[in-house]
Amino acid sequence: MGFDQYHEPPEELSQEVRTFARMITSLIEEAEAISWYEQRMSVEKDAQAKAIMKNAQTEEFKHFGMNLEFLLRKMPEWRTKLKEILFTTGDIVEAGEKAEKKVD
Ligand SMILES: [Fe+2]
Repeated sequence: MGFDQYHEPPEELSQEVRTFARMITSLIEEAEAISWYEQRMSVEKDAQAKAIMKNAQTEEFKHFGMNLEFLLRKMPEWRTKLKEILFTTGDIVEAGEKAEKKVD
């Protein structure tokens, strides 16, 4: 069993922080899965296999979203920043700059 998600001795971390770390690891894994399916689909020639991969990737979108929502509920400051960036149009860097200045 791997414990790579901890950057500090696990026994010194609270249960809440350990759960947070596990969910961050899950978020990373879901993002990796999205990328891996994207890469596989780009080289797959069999239409049925590609369709199955697309279906699986769509599941990963949901998993990523659920993980992210869990984390944002635990960390309201993160949600506040992301509200300025996600689901917006226009320049993403400007939105990021705006989010940086945003105070709860
Ligand atoms: Fe997943």
